[in-house]
Amino acid sequence: MSFYITTAIDYVNGVPHLGHAYEKISADVLARHQRQRGEDVFFLTGTDEHGEPVADAAHAQGIEPQALADRNAARFKALLPALEISNDFFIRTTDPEHKRRVQEVLARVHDNGHVYKGLYEGWYCPRCADFKVENEILEGNRCPIHEIALTREAEENWFFRLSTFQDALERLFDSRPDFVMPTRACNEARAFIAQGLQDVSLSRAKLRWGVSVPWDEGHVFYVWFDALLNYYTALHYARAGEDLTERYWPAQYHVIGKDILKFHAVFWPAMLMAADLPVPAHVFVHGFLMGEDGRKMSKSLGNVLDPFEVIERYGADALRFYLAREVVFGADGNVGMNGLRARYDAELANELGNLASRTLAMLSRYCDQAVPAADTDPALREDFAGLLEGVCALFDAAESTRALDLIWQRVRRLNQYVEERRPWELAKDEGRRGELEQVLASLWEGLRVVTVMITPFIPQSAGRLLEALGESDASLAAAGYAARVGGATVSTIPPLFPRLEDAATAAAQP
Ligand code: MSP
Repeated sequence: MSFYITTAIDYVNGVPHLGHAYEKISADVLARHQRQRGEDVFFLTGTDEHGEPVADAAHAQGIEPQALADRNAARFKALLPALEISNDFFIRTTDPEHKRRVQEVLARVHDNGHVYKGLYEGWYCPRCADFKVENEILEGNRCPIHEIALTREAEENWFFRLSTFQDALERLFDSRPDFVMPTRACNEARAFIAQGLQDVSLSRAKLRWGVSVPWDEGHVFYVWFDALLNYYTALHYARAGEDLTERYWPAQYHVIGKDILKFHAVFWPAMLMAADLPVPAHVFVHGFLMGEDGRKMSKSLGNVLDPFEVIERYGADALRFYLAREVVFGADGNVGMNGLRARYDAELANELGNLASRTLAMLSRYCDQAVPAADTDPALREDFAGLLEGVCALFDAAESTRALDLIWQRVRRLNQYVEERRPWELAKDEGRRGELEQVLASLWEGLRVVTVMITPFIPQSAGRLLEALGESDASLAAAGYAARVGGATVSTIPPLFPRLEDAATAAAQP
């Protein structure tokens, strides 16, 4: 089965921050899990480069919009390998292939009779690049998101007949209650539709920085339609000489933040229907990251978690793990350096890191690095029964935080098992050699299973650990807890998650 997953594409008028990183990591976890399941995955991310905010920011700096886009797109792109994001393509909406395809699709929408020319007048937020409807506007005609003053704008432009999709959208939401996930976001989208949909402006006459309207060259498309179409256009040219549309369209998940719900849950499916294209399986709406004090992160409040600083100090896996574990996927969360440090110490260094070093060290010391051929302990087998199915079922519902919790319970169980069975004592008694071998074989198998399953969250550390365990198969087909093991050769490795006081030294090592 094909599994196409996308993130929102980031505006290039700013530079990457933790919110962007969080979204890419969250989608990456889902993509990696599906690849481990053997699904045919395509994972897309990229940058949103047209529109007023970018043009304004460029002019403020005295440069051309394209120059600003080039500079900042490079920074967004550079963030991806640093976060271990496994995207299959990076789209930029200034790609000529994207622009051509946007024109083709929207010309079809035009030819299908879904657009007309009219006068638009309304309150406009230049930061959102969006007109606001009366009931969203804050007192004093301010933007509900940016709180800045809105401007009164009137212009002749092309309109998309969104209002005529009211029934079709209601039917879509009725027949597919999980079209928008989680439920809270779905209800919000439904409430927006229930208010009654107004037609939306599809083009801008004033702006030059955008994709020109093919049937009226004086206009460019409203940046949101250009941007949304990235999910579709990318498949046409992501692979040279190949069109991936048939293979991957429609997407399984569009992963987005809650501030852009209306565009993805309402405008986007309507636009696709207008272009005779199938709509995606799900729009998944993640929450917002706030500082540990519950306030929006800001440098002046000193509550910022800087992704680059965290990566440099603790590694990308620590950041990925912390965000996935701390912030329930689909809900808001408070994050900061204190929380990260606490989880790093208690969970990564003490629980998983310790379990790994102890297991590898005991196999080296007592078994000469060879995993003993032995039946695994039925008690542990029972504790691991159903784990794979449970993790997959949670991932099927995009509940990655809960999946991680299920895996983590087994990490804790394995540590408890070490304490219960005290292999170092068994090793003192030659008469208990069989028991020792069974305990170590069972531990090795448990550690192998959790490492395979946790790979999407901490890919680099999991890869190192699997290699040290002498086992290279990271597919979920290999993630069942076996009744009998033996034969692999382990090696010892430096701590996966060095203790904090050692972190600086470890980072200094090549
Ligand atoms: N360019 C549009 C999206 C177009 S998609 C066809 C946009 N860009 S953005 O750069 O402002 O935001 C990109 C993504 O980051 C959005 O999904 C947004 O919700 C997310 N986040 C921005 N700040 C965030 C947090 N503080 N926390 C979590 N995610 C947040 O919107």
